[in-house]
Order: sequence, then structure tokens, then C-alpha cells
Amino acid sequence: MKKELIITKDGSHSLFVPELNENYHSVHGAIEEALHVFIKNGIHSHPKQNINILEIGFGTGLNTLLTLENKKEVTVNYTALEPYPVSEKIYSKLNFFTMRNLDGETFLKLHTSDWEKEIEISGGFTFFKSEKRLQNFTTKKKFDIIYFDAFSPETQAEMWTEEVFKKCFNLLNKDGFLVTYCAKGVVKRTLKSIGYEVETLDGPTGKREMTRANKKGS
Ligand SMILES: C[S@@+](CC[C@H](N)C(=O)[O-])C[C@H]1O[C@@H](n2cnc3c(N)ncnc32)[C@H](O)[C@@H]1O
Repeated sequence: MKKELIITKDGSHSLFVPELNENYHSVHGAIEEALHVFIKNGIHSHPKQNINILEIGFGTGLNTLLTLENKKEVTVNYTALEPYPVSEKIYSKLNFFTMRNLDGETFLKLHTSDWEKEIEISGGFTFFKSEKRLQNFTTKKKFDIIYFDAFSPETQAEMWTEEVFKKCFNLLNKDGFLVTYCAKGVVKRTLKSIGYEVETLDGPTGKREMTRANKKGS
């Protein structure tokens, strides 16, 4: 699948996929969107100090980098799925770490690290990358947060099904949640039918709403 580097409105890069006619991030700002959806309404909204995160899918590595930057005192065990990795030619050009004044070597390590092998990126941050599709991914781990960052329902309908969200529900710890940029009614209804408690939150710049779906403990 061909991918083209683009610049979004906050100056950060994203990728455009001509075959899907879709971007990896909001054109209003890739970094701005990721900080709002996955950091503010993701890791910063979970009370635990030791958090297991599952990202679907890893793509450019932006969400991982921003989680590493913004995890504060929280210990993070991060699992990322990516069946269609971004090539070196592209990830080596991404401007995320320069825009955030972060260490480029750490960012590159996220991309160059071995698949299916857990590594320590820095104190309090372990990283495991799997080249499997979510549909084929199995693990004994349970997660506190799922960053659900698939392509949109219009582009990749098979990711927004009852079957996929049930799988996510079973992968979550009690009081864990799934967070996504998408706020489509049909998606929220599917999530509710499975047993998630669904919150509609303000969206990032350029998008009215987003969704957080909670697995409540009982
Ligand atoms: C909208 S992009 C977002 C990527 C990433 N979070 C980022 O910030 O760059 C969606 C990603 O999901 C990946 N993907 C596609 N099908 C998948 C599947 N079945 N399981 C897991 N990830 C998948 C794509 O390859 C792509 O990298």
C-alpha cells in the first residue's frame, strides 16, 4: 500500500494512503489530535499507576512516542499491533520528535526494534510490537487502555464490528477503557450492545466529538 508524507495544520507530519483515500491522522493536526484523544482522554484519564496499553495499530509510532513523553510517573507496559508497517524510507523522515524536542534515537528504536519481543525503552516503559492483525492476535495479558486507532469505519469496516469490539472487551481489565477518535452513532451503539459504558467527549480541533468506552467493574 503506497503511503505519502503530508503536513497537517499543526505542522506535524501524517501519511496519506491514495488507495484508501484516507490519512493516518486528522488534517487539523496529527500531534494535536493524538494528544487530545490518546493522552488527555487516554492515559491521563486512567487512575492506575501501572498501566498496560494496547494500540491498534502502531503506524507512524506517534501515539507511542507521545505516551512515552507524557506518562509522568506512571509505569507503562505498551503493546502495539501493526500488520502493515511503515517503511524506513518514511519513518526516518517523520518530524514528530523534532517538533516535540525529543530524542530521535528513541523514536527510531520504536520502529527498528524486533517484532514479537518485549524491550525496555526507558525506565518505566516497556514496549512489545506485534506484526499481527488484531483479529489474529492472542495474549495472556489484559489491558487498562486500548488506543483504538484503526482506519475509519468507511474505509475499514471490518475493524468496527461487534466481533472486534467483543475481542477488545475481553482484552480489557475491569475499569479499563477503549478510546477512539470516532464518534459515529452506529459505532457507539455497537459498543453499548456489548456492555461498554459509552462516553461521548469533546473532539480534538476540527472534530466535534470522540468516544471513550468503559468496561465497568462489578
Ligand atoms: C489510522 S492509521 C493510525 C496509525 C497510528 N496509530 C499512527 O498514529 O500513525 C491505522 C493503522 O492501523 C493499522 N491496521 C490496519 N489493519 C489492522 C488490523 N487488522 N489490526 C491492527 N492494525 C491494523 C494500519 O496499518 C495503520 O497503521
